[in-house]
Amino acid sequence: MSKVFVCDHPLIQHKLTYIRDATTTTKDFRALVDEVATLMAYEITRNIQLERVEVKTPVSMADCRVISGRMLGLIPILRAGLGMVDGILKLIPAAKVGHVGLYRDPVTLQPVEYYVKLPTDVEERELIVIDPMLATGGSAIAAITALKNRNCSQIKLMCLIAAPEGIEAVQQAHPDVDIYVAAIDDYLNDHGYIVPGLGDAGDRLFGTK
Ligand code: PRP
Ligand code: URA
Repeated sequence: MSKVFVCDHPLIQHKLTYIRDATTTTKDFRALVDEVATLMAYEITRNIQLERVEVKTPVSMADCRVISGRMLGLIPILRAGLGMVDGILKLIPAAKVGHVGLYRDPVTLQPVEYYVKLPTDVEERELIVIDPMLATGGSAIAAITALKNRNCSQIKLMCLIAAPEGIEAVQQAHPDVDIYVAAIDDYLNDHGYIVPGLGDAGDRLFGTK
């Protein structure tokens, strides 16, 4: 079974409070999501592999570490996942970015795929699927399935807020995919919204309704 990591660093929790607040403006919401994505990227890369290098300091030779030539890929789920991309790229600027376009049918709550565009070498990369919201889990499951259908095997999922139902569904469908979240909320309401959540992530990011 996959692991679930709750990124409970005080800076993340502080910013998440203002992300949730219904009075936060679109401009501030966007900036806060970007900042939390950077902080979560710090957590998700904690176990990234290092290799030894020698450098010459002004004083002597030093035995040092650099990140080994790992190939990373970010896979935002459109639309709302886009809001987290730049924040992660600040820490991992060499990552390539693929896009999976999905929307949730408002009646059935089932994900509908409308776009997939991935780096050519995607199957060789360690991938982080990004979406602020993990509600029923349908969108994340469909995005991860789309990647596995294209021979990708090293996949993590990063979300801001998850419902317990969504975590369980992803773990059932993809037990090899570890999940990183900033918070696990209480439950899903009758419309499939996370309670207390933050509302509609895409609408709040882009100012739509
Ligand atoms: C939201 C959110 C996730 C999905 C989560 O996207 O960004 O992708 O819902 O719900 P689920 O876990 O029940 O699938 P939405 O479908 O609203 O599309 P949008 O980002 O284009 O607004
Ligand atoms: N999608 C959202 O944007 N918010 C939710 O609470 C659930 C799904």
